[in-house]
Amino acid sequence: MSVKLRFNNYEIDATPGLSLFEHAESLGIYVPTSCRKQGKCRECLVEVTEGMEFLSGRTSQEEHLHDNFRLSCRSNVAADIGTVRCHTMRRGEMRIERHAFHLPVDHQSMKIDPCVTRNGDCILLDGEEIDRSSGPIHGLALDLGTTTIVLRLLNLETGKVVADSSFENPQRFGGSDVMSRIHYDTEHTDRVLQRTLAGYLTHAIEAFPVDPKSIYEMVVVGNSTMRDIFFRLNVYSIGQNPYQSITELEMKEGKRTSTGLTASPQRLALPLHPKARVYGLPIISGHVGADAAACMLAVDIANEERTVAIMDIGTNTELILGNKHKILAASCPAGPAFEGGKISCGMPGLPGAIEKVTMNADGSFSCQVIGDVPPEGICGSGLVDALSELLGSQRMNSLGRFENGEQQIELTSDGDRRIHIDERDINELAQAKGANVAGLHIVFNRYGIRFENLDVFYLAGGFGRHLSVSAAKRIGLIPNIDDTKILQVGNAAIEGACVALLSRTKRIELENLVKRVVHCRLESHPDFFNYFVEGCQFNPVESLYTTENLRR
Ligand code: FES
Repeated sequence: MSVKLRFNNYEIDATPGLSLFEHAESLGIYVPTSCRKQGKCRECLVEVTEGMEFLSGRTSQEEHLHDNFRLSCRSNVAADIGTVRCHTMRRGEMRIERHAFHLPVDHQSMKIDPCVTRNGDCILLDGEEIDRSSGPIHGLALDLGTTTIVLRLLNLETGKVVADSSFENPQRFGGSDVMSRIHYDTEHTDRVLQRTLAGYLTHAIEAFPVDPKSIYEMVVVGNSTMRDIFFRLNVYSIGQNPYQSITELEMKEGKRTSTGLTASPQRLALPLHPKARVYGLPIISGHVGADAAACMLAVDIANEERTVAIMDIGTNTELILGNKHKILAASCPAGPAFEGGKISCGMPGLPGAIEKVTMNADGSFSCQVIGDVPPEGICGSGLVDALSELLGSQRMNSLGRFENGEQQIELTSDGDRRIHIDERDINELAQAKGANVAGLHIVFNRYGIRFENLDVFYLAGGFGRHLSVSAAKRIGLIPNIDDTKILQVGNAAIEGACVALLSRTKRIELENLVKRVVHCRLESHPDFFNYFVEGCQFNPVESLYTTENLRR
C-alpha cells in the first residue's frame, strides 16, 4: 500500500510525510528555489493534475495560489494509498518556439550599433560611462509570452548569440489567459506575478555561462499585459473597454512621449549589472503589444515596399498589414481553442499531443504524436489537420456537423485513453477561426487590398510554425492564397527583440513606426458579426474586398 507519485516523467512510491519538493530532490528533478524550502520565495511551484486530496492542506504561504497550483515545499504526501500526479513549471520538454525562419533580416549578420558600447576599458550606455571592464559585454533579449518565456544572451560587440533558455511561464498560477492575469494582478497588489517570474529569470540568467554583471542591457517584448506586469505597472485598464495600457493613457495625457518603458534591474529584481537598463519595446495598443511591434522589426516592415501581413495565431491573434507607407493592426479575440483549451481531448503542444493527423483509405486515422510517448490528447495543429481530413472526406460538412450521424469521431485509442473529437470541439474551433477571419476581412478591406494581391503572408508564433498550410487553407483559417506567399517564420518576436538590442537605429525607427500604425477596433466594426458568422464555416477564405468595403 503506497501513494504512487508521478512527478514530471518519473514515477515512485511516495513516502508519507515528505514534501513534493523532497521527492523531487530524490528523483533529481530541478525545482527552482531561492529560500531552500522555507516557504518564502514562492518559486517552487508545481501543478497537481491528480490526487490533490492525498496531499496536506494549503498553508498560509500558499494563499496566493488557486486551483491546482501548490508550493512543493509546503505540500506533503498525507495518505497511505492513492495516486498523485504533478509537474514543475519548468518542464524542459515543452515545445517552445525559440527560433525564427525565413525572415528578411538576420540579426546575426546585420550592421550593429547597440546602445552599450566600449571605449577601451570604459563601458558606455548611451555614451555615459557605467562601468570599467576589459571583459565581454552582453545583452539579453526576452520574449514574455502568456504561456512561454524565451531568453537569449547576446555578445553586444559581435552580435552573436552566446546562450539561450526557455521555459513555461510560471505566472500560470494566476490564470492561463491575459484577462485572468489582469484580474489576478489587480486583486493581488503585492506584485506576486512579477516577483515569481523575476525569480525564474534570475535562475535562468545565473545559469548562463557568463557573469550576470557583464549584462548591461535587456530588451523585453511581450503582449501589453505581460510587458506591463513585468514592469510593475497597473494593468487594470487593459482589461476594461477601451482596453488600453496605462502607457497609452499617459501618452494621451501628455505625460510620456512613447509607450516604450525603461527600468533599473534593481526595481525588477534582476541580477544584471546594477547600472544596466531594462527596456520594454513600445506597444501598438492594449491588445497589440510589444511582441507584435517586435515582429514588425523582424520583418523590416519600416523599409518594405511590398505589402506584407504578419499573423500570430493564438488566444489573442495579432494581425498587422502594410508596408513602409501605411500599416494597419488588429487583435482578434480567438480564445484558447488553438492551444487545446476548451477542447474535450485538447492539450498544449507538449509530449503526448497529437500534432498531425491523416485519414487512411478505410476511414481510420494515422496520428503523429510529439515525443516518443503514447498519445494523451490533441493540440491545435492536430485539430486543424483532423478537421481538414473530415471536411475533405465529407464526413463533416461546412457547418461543422458530422454527415453520417456520428456523435464522436475517434482518432486513436490506446488502452483506456481514447482521443476523440465531437461537434462541440468543432464549434469551439469554428468560433476561434471566425474571430480571425473577421479580423482578416476588416483589416484587408480597410487597407484596400484583396488577399491574393498580398506579397507575403508571415505566419508567426509556435502554432503558425507547426500548422499544415494546406489544412489551414482548406478549413478557412488563413486566406486562400498561393502557398509560395506564405512563410511560417516561428518566433519572430524574439528575433525582433534581438534587432532592438543590437541596433539603436532600429529601435528609434520602431519607436517612430508604432506611432504611425493605425489600430482597427474589430469589436465596434459594423460588419464584425457578419464576418464572424461567415468565418465560423469551414470553407476556404476568399477576399471580400471591393471598393464598396473601402468606405467603411
Ligand atoms: S522553496 Fe521557496 S517557497 Fe518553496
